[in-house]
Amino acid sequence: MKITVIGAGNVGATCANEIAIKELADELVLVDINEGLTKGKALDMWQTSPILSFDTKITAALDNYEQTKDSEVVVITSGIPRKPGMSRDDLINTNALIVKEVTENVIKYSPDAVIIVVSNPLDVMTYAAFLATKKKVKSSKIFGMAGILDTARFKSFISDALNISPKSIHAILMGGHGDSMVPLVRYTTISGIPINELLDKETIEKIIQRTKTGGGELVNLMGTSAWYAPGAAAAQMVESVVKNQRRVFPVCASLNGEYGLRDLHLGVPVVLGRNGIERVIELKLNDEEMALVKKSAKEVKSLMKVLDDMNIFEDKYSHLNPID
Ligand code: NAI
Ligand code: 2OP
Repeated sequence: MKITVIGAGNVGATCANEIAIKELADELVLVDINEGLTKGKALDMWQTSPILSFDTKITAALDNYEQTKDSEVVVITSGIPRKPGMSRDDLINTNALIVKEVTENVIKYSPDAVIIVVSNPLDVMTYAAFLATKKKVKSSKIFGMAGILDTARFKSFISDALNISPKSIHAILMGGHGDSMVPLVRYTTISGIPINELLDKETIEKIIQRTKTGGGELVNLMGTSAWYAPGAAAAQMVESVVKNQRRVFPVCASLNGEYGLRDLHLGVPVVLGRNGIERVIELKLNDEEMALVKKSAKEVKSLMKVLDDMNIFEDKYSHLNPID
């Protein structure tokens, strides 16, 4: 089993480290255009193997995708991160070209791989990677990581507010990876106990707001975006795929009529297994929740238009099925 991580920066290296420690593959290839960084991180990580006791062989590849041949899972983290004052959307022009080039190379050597996109703005970069495959990869095999991260932030804030283990917090979040994301309070429990039995409305609302701006909070603290939780979240998706765990996670998936939405990529709960997205779970949302999901979908569509207007892909989907 070979797994490739593209981008040996903060998120890519953290994700690769998790994959190695968990021995999710016997071979892990780290790809980046920065020669010293890629070789150095691969070597450093490999030198932790006797200490942390894993066998996963880690190698570095520069622009040489031949080395990634027949990867079963590929994680794409290449691209620029946010600096303070930037929104994720400011990254579209630069990252779209990177994601396009990388995806084209990936599918040339690993046409059957499950591809997990992490680069931002996430929903639009997942769409960009999907367009770059020219439909040679099933849409269920190319999807994005954001929901696990956003849900983890939501859960960690609830854990703090209640002084209860994060392991006992269960939640699901939908929508785009941005301020319009939709934490679903009605589906949030503390080991089955509805959250509103333990926290008042005002506290829950504050936690929702902090979750929505959770990425920005970290950018302001560190001058660049987060990596521990994003890297771990992407590795958790890899694990569910390679072990065919069929875990339920919020994932940025291609929608084909689910939730009354189509022709866009948006965060929804899915079953993640060996074939990638095994199925999308359609929750029975109430009117208020559905309105928030639609609002988020509308925002993603407007960003898709920015990508479509770059004219770097043959296909365009942003004008299809406008959201009312
Ligand atoms: P970073 O700057 O630490 O690493 C990015 C790496 O991509 C660099 O090492 C760079 O050399 C490499 N790269 C650039 N062009 C490349 C190409 N054509 N081929 C191969 N490698 C290339 O950035 P970081 O913090 O790792 O973030 C990476 C991306 O992930 C950013 O776009 C960031 O916004 C996004 N992100 C997404 C999250 C999510 O929830 N989806 C969470 C956190 C970050
Ligand atoms: C995050 O949410 C920036 O998308 C990245 O941390």
